[in-house]
Amino acid sequence: KIIVLDYGSQYNQLITRRLREFGVFSELKSHKMTAEEIKAEGNVIGVILSGGPHSVYAEDAFGIDEAIFEMGIPVLGVCYGMQLITQRFGGEVKAADSREYGQSTIEVLNKETGLFAGLNAEERVLMSHGDLITQVPAGFETTASNPQCPVAAFENTAANIYGVQFHPEVQHTIHGNDMLRNFAFDICHASGDWTMENFIDLEIAKIREQVGDRKVLLALSGGVDSSVVGVLLQKSIGDQLVCIFVDHGLLRKNEAQQVMDALGEFGLNIILVDAKDRFFSKLAGVSDPEEKRKIIGNEFVYVFDDEAQKLDGIDFLAQGTLYTDVIESGTDTAQTIKSHHNVGGLPEDMTFELIEPLNTLFKDEVRQLGTTLGMPDSIVWRQPFPGPGLGIRVLGEITDEKVEIVRESDAILREEIAKNGLERDVWQYFTVLPNVRSVGVMGDGRTYDHMLGIRAVTSVDGMTSEFARLPWDVLQTISTRIVNEVPHVNRVVYDVTGKPPATIEWE
Ligand code: XMP
Repeated sequence: KIIVLDYGSQYNQLITRRLREFGVFSELKSHKMTAEEIKAEGNVIGVILSGGPHSVYAEDAFGIDEAIFEMGIPVLGVCYGMQLITQRFGGEVKAADSREYGQSTIEVLNKETGLFAGLNAEERVLMSHGDLITQVPAGFETTASNPQCPVAAFENTAANIYGVQFHPEVQHTIHGNDMLRNFAFDICHASGDWTMENFIDLEIAKIREQVGDRKVLLALSGGVDSSVVGVLLQKSIGDQLVCIFVDHGLLRKNEAQQVMDALGEFGLNIILVDAKDRFFSKLAGVSDPEEKRKIIGNEFVYVFDDEAQKLDGIDFLAQGTLYTDVIESGTDTAQTIKSHHNVGGLPEDMTFELIEPLNTLFKDEVRQLGTTLGMPDSIVWRQPFPGPGLGIRVLGEITDEKVEIVRESDAILREEIAKNGLERDVWQYFTVLPNVRSVGVMGDGRTYDHMLGIRAVTSVDGMTSEFARLPWDVLQTISTRIVNEVPHVNRVVYDVTGKPPATIEWE
């Protein structure tokens, strides 16, 4: 594998991700990692020193164990990493007259061998730096250059050390992938045969070693992350994993049962807690959206606590934390934490060790992992569903009757979207009850009943969205079915607002 040492750049996660896409396993590790520790990993074929926001000549600048340069393993420095190499090998780094940020063209001086083998004489790259290399260290040769950044890349083939001032891992460096490929395959001689199966084997071995014969607790939400963690842990430690699945009574139609069935097939030991009454009694009479969210969130923690307290001898808490959630260094996987830092309110004296087996992966990689583990699409491709569930889709006060209207209409909507093969085109789709009545006519009689909203949006990450252009005839079928099949609905409207200015959920 290729290890990426973390010097704090926001792009670090992308380097490891690109390498994994090439079939080369890669992990982000703390910049404090020593040559000894790298050796102890056993199978490291290359080291990449990442970018970072600091200056190498700052007093508290992150350093490097220089023995890493003598391990006989190729080293690539990116941005800060390159400057660190320069400094350690006796070159010179200085503040540039002006910061360079953005796309820029470099002249490639060696396109026969090394990082730029097979590339063009000019390449577009993304620069993002305030410091410049003003003197190349002895033994190094400049391999790319431009007027603003005379040393845009260098190499020392005898020592097998390479550096680039720009960021090959981002898409704005047009042939960045080829450069990383050249490093991985030509320079580090990676075999490129790493797969998700390898990842699973490695993770299982790691989990077994960490857990031994102790017990792990996991809060299942039905979502893809916690479900994948559950299945992976079950394969690793079997019944030493105990899962708690809190049903707050605000799940979608048959959802609790479907999750229990789907995950039960993998042999997960799940305690299903039917806490509907607890949640609904706390929510009675409350119509303020923020207050509703707070009540649901807090109650979730109380219920989880109550169940966890009934269990004996739990040492670990598992979480579906993703790579994107790991902000600092992606390495300190097993820190002991006060439990209330995770699940919100477990008693102060209960401390767990944390297990986060997905913290090196991105969302789409987690989906791939789930599929490789044999999990069904219904879990792996489940659309995002908010923690407070249908509670924020019944506007205002939550009652049984209103939740039922949303639940039944949501089931129809989902059925029709699936029937028309639109599931993967639409990021999220659901119905909302605005708690507004309007006049209608059904049969020969006047009705005065609920209006129901349909929301369907496209999005990449949920931060922004557009309303989905659902075909009119699909919308018509959905509308007709809802009015016919769901009591107390006599009108259906479609939300045609983007985010911004609206949000995806209505509350
Ligand atoms: P908004 O409504 O803020 O939603 O545009 C963006 C995305 O986040 C989901 N969402 C939540 N997820 N707990 C969650 O786990 C919540 O309280 C919550 N509120 C919104 C929403 O479904 C959408 O995917």
